Amino acid sequence: MRLEGKVAIVTGAGSGIGRGVSLRFAEEGASIVVADIDGPRAAETVALVGEAGGNAVAVTADVSKGVDVKRLFSEALSAFGGFDILVNNAGILTWAPLLEITEEMWDRMLEVNLKSMFLCTQEAARYWVREKRKGRIVNLGSVNSDYAIPGNAHYSAAKGAVKMFTRAAAVELAPYRINVNAVGPGGTQTNITEAFQDPEQVAAMEKNLPWGRIAQPRDIANVILMLASDDAEYVSGQLVFVDGGLTSKMPGT
Ligand SMILES: NC(=O)c1ccc[n+]([C@@H]2O[C@H](COP(=O)([O-])OP(=O)(O)OC[C@H]3O[C@@H](n4cnc5c(N)ncnc54)[C@H](O)[C@@H]3O)[C@@H](O)[C@H]2O)c1
Repeated sequence: MRLEGKVAIVTGAGSGIGRGVSLRFAEEGASIVVADIDGPRAAETVALVGEAGGNAVAVTADVSKGVDVKRLFSEALSAFGGFDILVNNAGILTWAPLLEITEEMWDRMLEVNLKSMFLCTQEAARYWVREKRKGRIVNLGSVNSDYAIPGNAHYSAAKGAVKMFTRAAAVELAPYRINVNAVGPGGTQTNITEAFQDPEQVAAMEKNLPWGRIAQPRDIANVILMLASDDAEYVSGQLVFVDGGLTSKMPGT
């Protein structure tokens, strides 16, 4: 068991990758704080972790709001008396050509996919520094942290910033033995976008992928697990692509 006795706070854990991370961490002995804006889905994840023999609590929170983040961390402390790992996973994806992105779309994207990471990281790090306890943070970047695709300039901008926020936080928090890393998934079968519900669009994506299939949440969770475990003791500030080889492929081949 690689996370025996650890407590992990996972944001956006009511679905997709966050749910996969909760289940994978629980298999390795961690207790999980399942945070999501969608209360019923968070409760579903808690039930699934319980069915698998793990221990989890749900907290309904919009992690783009400071007041909700403070409540999330205080509920985590009440439930488990402390925590060791933060996975900043909550995210949204909307599509629009650059000429049509509205100010509201831009602001919400940056709030959910970037500001939430700052708020949760600051709250977690303040606790670990105060308690002199070591901590691990894993952020959800994307292949869009480095590569653009048409129709999501606001998402790509947020995910690019995740890469630099990860590095900046890693540098500042290293003296406290808090490491901060990011994973950059390629297309992963979740509810984040309609495209993943359409077999024809999935097949078209898979044609372009060296590995020949899109990822499942567990593929991403396995790498997040490594970065959250003691195996990553000396790794900080890194963005690891988990993309079946996509970002290594020469364009047009
Ligand atoms: N699925 C992919 O292909 C893919 C690829 C690269 C990166 N990612 C990233 O992985 C992360 C998880 O995405 P997913 O694919 O599992 O999507 P998903 O839609 O299945 O899950 C996202 C979860 O986040 C929650 N959420 C949204 N806004 C929130 C908020 N303000 N506060 C709290 N919770 C909130 C949603 O309710 C949902 O349960 C995101 O950061 C996403 O950008 C996903």
